[in-house]
Amino acid sequence: MRKMIKVNFGTLGVLILVLVAACSGDPAKIASENTSYSKVDSLLLLMTLEEKIGQMNLVTGKFEDNNPTELVSDYQEQVKSGRIGNFLNVTGVEATMALQKIAVEESRLGIPLLFGYDVIHGYKTISPIPLAEAASWDLEAIEASARMAAVEASASGINWAFAPMVDVSRDPRWGRIMETSGEDPWYASQVAVARVKGFQGDDLASPHTLLACAKHYAGYGNPIAGRDYTITDFSERELWEVHMPPFKSAIEAGVGSIMTSYTEVNGVPVTANEFLLRTVLRDRWQFDGFVVTDWGTIRDLLRHGVAKDSVDAARMSVLAGSEMDMVEQFYIDYLPGLVRSGVVKESFIDEAVSHILVKKFELGLFDHPYAYHDVNRERNEILTRENREKARDMARKSMVLLENKNNTLPLSRDISSVALIGPLADNPADLMGRWNGKGEPGDVITVLQGIKNVAPDVTINYTKGVDFDSEDRSGFKAAIEAARRSEVIIMALGEYADISGEAASRAFITVPGLQVELAKELRKLGKPLIVVLFNGRPLAIPWLKDNADALLEAWLPGTEGGNAVADILFGAYNPSGKLPVTFPLTGGQIPIYYSYKNTGKPYGEETHRYTSRYMDIPNEPLYPFGYGLSYSTFVYSNLQVSVGEKVGIKVTVKNTGDRAGEEVVQLYTRDVVRSVTPPLKELKGFKKITLGPWESKEVTFVLSKEDLKFYDQRMDFVFKPGQFRAMVGTNAMDHMQETFKLDGLE
Ligand code: NOJ
Repeated sequence: MRKMIKVNFGTLGVLILVLVAACSGDPAKIASENTSYSKVDSLLLLMTLEEKIGQMNLVTGKFEDNNPTELVSDYQEQVKSGRIGNFLNVTGVEATMALQKIAVEESRLGIPLLFGYDVIHGYKTISPIPLAEAASWDLEAIEASARMAAVEASASGINWAFAPMVDVSRDPRWGRIMETSGEDPWYASQVAVARVKGFQGDDLASPHTLLACAKHYAGYGNPIAGRDYTITDFSERELWEVHMPPFKSAIEAGVGSIMTSYTEVNGVPVTANEFLLRTVLRDRWQFDGFVVTDWGTIRDLLRHGVAKDSVDAARMSVLAGSEMDMVEQFYIDYLPGLVRSGVVKESFIDEAVSHILVKKFELGLFDHPYAYHDVNRERNEILTRENREKARDMARKSMVLLENKNNTLPLSRDISSVALIGPLADNPADLMGRWNGKGEPGDVITVLQGIKNVAPDVTINYTKGVDFDSEDRSGFKAAIEAARRSEVIIMALGEYADISGEAASRAFITVPGLQVELAKELRKLGKPLIVVLFNGRPLAIPWLKDNADALLEAWLPGTEGGNAVADILFGAYNPSGKLPVTFPLTGGQIPIYYSYKNTGKPYGEETHRYTSRYMDIPNEPLYPFGYGLSYSTFVYSNLQVSVGEKVGIKVTVKNTGDRAGEEVVQLYTRDVVRSVTPPLKELKGFKKITLGPWESKEVTFVLSKEDLKFYDQRMDFVFKPGQFRAMVGTNAMDHMQETFKLDGLE
């Protein structure tokens, strides 16, 4: 029988040194090495093969049912014997503490557990969905939102977030577009960095931070036909230009873990893709964290048709570089045999385990294993008034004003009555969106409540009018009557939460059911029609665009969504969000994105049949990338480009309205002629500025050679001198432009 040895590097370092010295024979050297890496090397020497593989095992709890007594009875033996090193979906201080105590006090080496959870847009205080947050173009606010989520989750026993999702998507049919930062790889990279910093902070060892996980590596954002879980099949160029940049940026920002995706790249499922997991992640990008599979993706190798049996699936995954097995327990079942029979060298296991243990050290878990299990924090740091305020502000920042004909908004405080109609008007659950952590409908402010809070003197004639998917028109009458009794009509329409997110692809990206039909009936009354749209994806809404007097894209805005909507409707906040993704006119335009290429037969320069166009619809989207209105108006002038060691670009932006407002000034470039067809434009920078009434500001950008590189025909990332174009403006289709020539640059 093995002796029980407790390893606590904070207090019992001497014990480990003595033990390790016995193995390595050089205690002085080990004593002087105090990095996580040297501690891990020492620890590895003490571990049995099963204990090592246990660290590669991530087991799920029972989601909502976190009964500590049951968890202990179910998992005590496996945690004690070191066969489970990590959990997901176990939440709450009591439950996590019960398991952590077994790991630390009853297992032979006392190695603490990781507790992972999908902290996607908040833990208990729910922020807007990630796509919505991206619409704020406010990286500080996005970082702060991730920080808030980290503080709440870490107060509830979690030390690892399965976020940020950094996939780029240009397909609104795919339900998981709601978790992305939209269509642009450069912008998605900026957001990825902000979120990694938000989750991990400056000091991973602080119990207020979480280990982050960039997912889903790589290319998951472009599943064929927009159907979740199906294959991807894109060019090597698309892989590098579109899907890889945010992962690279997340790694440069220090992300501690990467999750593989359900999909394949170039015919090889990512969980078994040695090129992606070893050549790229480790050799090229020097990633030093660990790789976790997505849910069951090792077993999926059988169904993909690349593994002949479960043992083979485990072998392929570990050799490729998948280091932690999410839920299937294939590693714990099959890796010991594979190592003992010599099929898998133990060095592969050691490498994986050391990556995992280093992160456990960096999280401070060996020194303070119970730091994340503090009942006082759980009582005091979750869903606080301050956090609700932050969520409200984030929600306001994320909303995009799509239409505002005749300055319908903001509503005057003098109006006496509004009709409030629609399935999202008084609907707390759906406002949270999918992946809503521990959010509770009872904590959500609905639009009805928000208007009561912000405009208490206004009479609200509320009726639901219509449900989401139903064909039932029986509520129309009451809705029309409510509208008749009111000065203006506010409709809260859109998607319910369950039709976006994982396994929620849609073929028709319309507002479901009879909602628009009801809007058409109400339009006939001739009263101002304000539509607030809630959705997890871009929707094709041409009728609403043309007929609503005001149209506000509110996404799925979270706990404080109703207050945020009311703040905007009644002018307490001047909208400043801009679309991080193109809104198509109809699903037939998908994939649609701003950075498309000119083609050899572009439509526009010539308009005849033999140009790149549809017979039945225009090429143009409904709303372009970067689009969004404000209650202020902004005028751009005086674009200047100067070329020296770097390229300097400046433009003057003037607020031509009577109220202060914020504008997202966007810089796009084009390499005019190059060896590989250039996109018409690519986002290279943005500045979010605040301008007082009638105020002007000069906005400057600086570009270097690095910013103007591209993948050439050999897929080398190069800068080539030549002619370039700078485009600066308020969205991807509306800008000033200047051409400049570059010979060489810094
Ligand atoms: C599957 C999802 O694809 C992934 O995003 C998530 O983190 C895991 N399940 C864990 O819940």
